[in-house]
Amino acid sequence: MDIKKLVNEMTLEEKAGMCSGKDFWHLKSVERLQIPEVMVSDGPHGLRKQADAEEGDHLGINDSITAVCFPAGCAVASSFDRDLIRSMGETIGEECQAENVSVVLGPAVNIKRSPLCGRNFEYLSEDPYLAGEMAASYINGVQSRDVGVSIKHFALNNQEHERMSGSSEADERTIREIYFPAFETAVKKADPWTVMCSYNRINGTFASENEWLLTKVLRDEWGFKGYVMSDWGAVNDRVKGLEAGMDLEMPASGGDNDRLIVEAVKNGTLPEEKLDLAVERILNILFAYEEKKRGGVFDRAKDHKKAAEIAEECMVLLKNEESILPLPKKEKVAFIGEFAEKPRFQGGGSSHINCFAISDTLSPAREMGEILYAKGFPADRDEENEKDFEEALKCARKAERVVVFAGLPDSFESEGYDRSHMRLPECQNKLIEKILEVNPRVAVVLHNGAPVEMPWASRVQGILEAYLCGEAVGTALARVLFGEANPSGHLAETFPLRLEDTPCYPYFPGKRGKAYYAEGIFTGYRYYEKKGMEVLFPFGHGLSYTDFEIGNMKIERKGQKDTDPVTVLADVTNTGSRAGKAVVQLYVSDRTDTEVRPEKELKGFVKVLLSPGEKKTVRMELDQRSFAYYSTELSDWFAPEGEYVVRLGFSSADIRAEQAITLEAGKKLPFQVDPTTTVGELMEHPELKSMIEEKVMPILAVFGGGEDTDAAKEAVSREMAEAMVRYMPIRSLRSFTNATNEELLKLCGELNAALK
Ligand code: BGC
Repeated sequence: MDIKKLVNEMTLEEKAGMCSGKDFWHLKSVERLQIPEVMVSDGPHGLRKQADAEEGDHLGINDSITAVCFPAGCAVASSFDRDLIRSMGETIGEECQAENVSVVLGPAVNIKRSPLCGRNFEYLSEDPYLAGEMAASYINGVQSRDVGVSIKHFALNNQEHERMSGSSEADERTIREIYFPAFETAVKKADPWTVMCSYNRINGTFASENEWLLTKVLRDEWGFKGYVMSDWGAVNDRVKGLEAGMDLEMPASGGDNDRLIVEAVKNGTLPEEKLDLAVERILNILFAYEEKKRGGVFDRAKDHKKAAEIAEECMVLLKNEESILPLPKKEKVAFIGEFAEKPRFQGGGSSHINCFAISDTLSPAREMGEILYAKGFPADRDEENEKDFEEALKCARKAERVVVFAGLPDSFESEGYDRSHMRLPECQNKLIEKILEVNPRVAVVLHNGAPVEMPWASRVQGILEAYLCGEAVGTALARVLFGEANPSGHLAETFPLRLEDTPCYPYFPGKRGKAYYAEGIFTGYRYYEKKGMEVLFPFGHGLSYTDFEIGNMKIERKGQKDTDPVTVLADVTNTGSRAGKAVVQLYVSDRTDTEVRPEKELKGFVKVLLSPGEKKTVRMELDQRSFAYYSTELSDWFAPEGEYVVRLGFSSADIRAEQAITLEAGKKLPFQVDPTTTVGELMEHPELKSMIEEKVMPILAVFGGGEDTDAAKEAVSREMAEAMVRYMPIRSLRSFTNATNEELLKLCGELNAALK
């Protein structure tokens, strides 16, 4: 198909029309030129296809076709398993083919800046590397089926409060290191067909008309080739948006914005080539789908089974003392909490799926062991009922072990608004405390999309985080609880002790239309580690029913340069008595002391299946970027020369092996001597050493440091003299010595010459 030729044949009106939807879910067709109508649908963890576009909405209110709800982003990211999320993508891609959906609206990859964001359940992680790797694998999965994705929401859409109008105010280094990489990695490793721009502004400019974002960074720097679509209703000024690189407005604009585009081209304010380019990008993708579309069958029963298999790999065993889990088949176990029969497994809003089937936990568990059940509290609200409490306690007394099914009711977290606190419903906390008084053998299962405070955490023996694990959650949960499956999920986010501890607590969600990202690069574990703070459960944490060890760590490299690839190898052994999957995490710490940096950052991970006693060698590759920070001085990624430590572990707080390595830098930070340069800055450049000794130090002899009979006083005055010298700009030497301005300028010149 010659798309350029096709664009040439279109009228101005047809081209403008192509740049907005026909209705809620379709792009426009042009019959005259055989451009067909194609459909897009939500995402990300299953299909929300609203067959009746008249009844379309972006809040998950009206019905969609029945489909299969897979584990949400919060859960599937915890699998730390690229192949798993890829295969989930493949299945969703097949479903799109079967349902004639050209693009699925996901993955949603915004960074979890605060646990309060109402949409965290859809998002992947607080860590940009993990989010990027998982996003790329999901996309590769979906797109292998010849349908596209729309990675969203680009960018800095990390809260629901004022999401359509507010401005995310962040500095460039923070944006590049924390909020961009999930998108960047996805673009570079998986070529998403489309990108969805977010509602919010970034440093004052709407994402939907932000040329720096949509053209300079996304296309020129990262090489994005597809089309950008707006989030539903994100367009502010349509013509500005088109100029900035926002190709498709969704949903329909009622014709108004199409007319504005036509006018702008006619009166010369919008170059027609810009419009042509947008249309070309849209048609490229439209026909990429159209030419390979093949239909198929949406086998819901089969996909439901798949959803159960995926769910098993996502659950995170947070605590397991006195072997409370797995549950023995021969003991009486009390299940308490309505979530046991009505699990919460998905969140509210545009990702809400009309489920084909829902598996509860109680039914399969009853086939595995002897279960007593009491509702205890309702799954959908915070309401305490004395009779239900009594019954629950009676049940807990009769059983040898208790499993409480706790979690957040639907209304506690959803798209559209943020949580105001991190607590579970009061009735649940209260009942857990009461149960602990009558039976100490208690494990808690959690159904929630984001961290909650757990005032009882130190007193219960087990905690299993099931997150929002999709419609087949019950089947998977019963298998994990009874040890038919071994949990292998790890936290993709930190669980803080309390809301007040979170990095952006003082600034979230912002005031007067501005969300200040004042914590900068210190999100999640980067913050807690830097401050040496205690957390409830650290990033990367997750237990198993077996044990693993890491040994024999090795680093292989071809050379010392920052651009030479680094291979890290280690042996992982299953030292326990069950088969299980280990997640080996690789973190890098910068020891060069060049810039303010986190204690360590995740730069690699791999998941391996090991039978009891089995040992496997894992291997991870690092590149320049693994060591680099974003230097605004260089406008580039920069790995300073010096020492780094590579660490391997099973969580950010459980490091089992480490090795230091030294890099030679390929690049240097720009440095020019002028009268404001300090003596200390000069001293950081070894090539200036002899000149400093010869030309600068003699001038500074006046600051010799005191000689005092009192040793302590002498030490202070020496320190002070040294500090004075170190922080003294060349310009100031004039005030303290008899050097003239002219001499000092000449000195700057000589120093610059010596630098070359
Ligand atoms: C959401 C998007 C979603 C779109 C269409 C918006 O409100 O932010 O994630 O894809 O609606 O439903």
